[in-house]
Amino acid sequence: MNICIIGTGFVGVVSASVYASFGNTVIGLDIDPQKIEKLKHGQVPFFEPGLSDLLLEQQKSGNLHFTTDYSLAVSQAEVVFVAVGTPSTSTGEADLKYVFATADSIAPFLQENAIVVIKSTVPPGTLTQYAERVKTKTQAQFFMASVPEFLREGSAVADTLHPDRVLIGTTEPEVAEKLTLLHQPLQTQIIHTSPESAQMAKYSANAYLATRITFINQIADLCEKNGADIEEVIQAIGQDKRIGSQYWYPGLGYGGSCFPKDVKELAAYANSIGETNNVLIKINEVNEQRIEKILNQYEQKIGGWLNKKVAVLGLSFKPETNDMREAPSIKIIPYLLSKGAQVLGFDPKAEWPVNGDISFFTATPPVTTVSPDSSFTQVNTINDAVRDVDVIMCVIEWPEITSFDFSQSKSAKTQWFVDTRNQFSPKEVTAWGYNYLGIGR
Ligand code: UDX
Repeated sequence: MNICIIGTGFVGVVSASVYASFGNTVIGLDIDPQKIEKLKHGQVPFFEPGLSDLLLEQQKSGNLHFTTDYSLAVSQAEVVFVAVGTPSTSTGEADLKYVFATADSIAPFLQENAIVVIKSTVPPGTLTQYAERVKTKTQAQFFMASVPEFLREGSAVADTLHPDRVLIGTTEPEVAEKLTLLHQPLQTQIIHTSPESAQMAKYSANAYLATRITFINQIADLCEKNGADIEEVIQAIGQDKRIGSQYWYPGLGYGGSCFPKDVKELAAYANSIGETNNVLIKINEVNEQRIEKILNQYEQKIGGWLNKKVAVLGLSFKPETNDMREAPSIKIIPYLLSKGAQVLGFDPKAEWPVNGDISFFTATPPVTTVSPDSSFTQVNTINDAVRDVDVIMCVIEWPEITSFDFSQSKSAKTQWFVDTRNQFSPKEVTAWGYNYLGIGR
């Protein structure tokens, strides 16, 4: 099939490369000429394992192209995917301005019977509004569908190639048939729903996972007070098949480009239709306050942050990505600096902005700026970060960090080892000579 994918972020580039690998002719479009220039030269504008190889392979095969030209991309396309960002507004609703802008841009070039598929996460009802907008600018007959994406950053290629399911939300049987054919090579179960159910399923999956994380974090906080160990509790309850043992580790709360945004958007959507007493508002609040709450608890145990030298290991929001959107580091580092600590940061891939402006990475007020001449330095090795510090704080479970031999870094003074992901054995860390602090143990 001839396919066009609008938006070359994680979802767009990964989907374009995967659809191309099935033998389709795919054109990826973005309004950002710099991004497109990079992609044309086989460069992925962000770090995502395995994506570079797949992209180059598909470009070489002649199946995958990139452009900024709507006429070129859309006029040949049987299927047009919309995979642009849907950030939240200041009041939490999904900001659909980028989605609707694509409606205006594709409309004049749509071929007869084209299928427009919304992959971006949007509230139910958006498809109807989108179609109405397109209709004002074209005489062509076209169809709409919703095919949400469930890929995770850091494993986006594998998730797209081996999804648990593909969701096709449309009311048109011919559209369902064509999109089923397109996804057949994935050899996974294909679920057919209405567009509204597909959109609700996407929001619900993310909101459920965020709720699950918040729940286990709160249980961890209870364990902290009563002598139970959250890891033992998780092991025990995970055996219940209704609960399961995956996606179940406590920490500093969820971050990234999806969960915080999607929870807020679903809560705002619920509010907008009169469902005001919904649990997601509280989930969001608890998650936003979590880092400060835990750091305050650590502060009591460590005896204050003033003049402490702290190594923050892991700046990205999770391992295998350089994405720092809503990463714990974005809150931790300004917090520690405001308390008078000296902070050294390390990450295998993520780079702290040179000008210290982190406002891009967080929607949560107060948006803080870490002045470039503050006591924060990003260093290139774990060794450089941990040398003679008072506190080692393991924030993200990058394999480089969890496999590092911290026994070699212990100095003669009292040192704290803060394990915010429960990745280390308290016994072992204590045997190395550190004072251990984890989450809920
Ligand atoms: C998520 C969904 O998993 C994916 O299906 C959707 O398409 C996009 O949003 P992603 O944001 O890439 O993917 O990361 P994920 O691995 O799900 O982690 C999200 C956040 O939750 C991270 O901050 C992670 O550290 C945190 N998390 C995850 C926990 O704190 N505990 C867990 O048990 C799991």
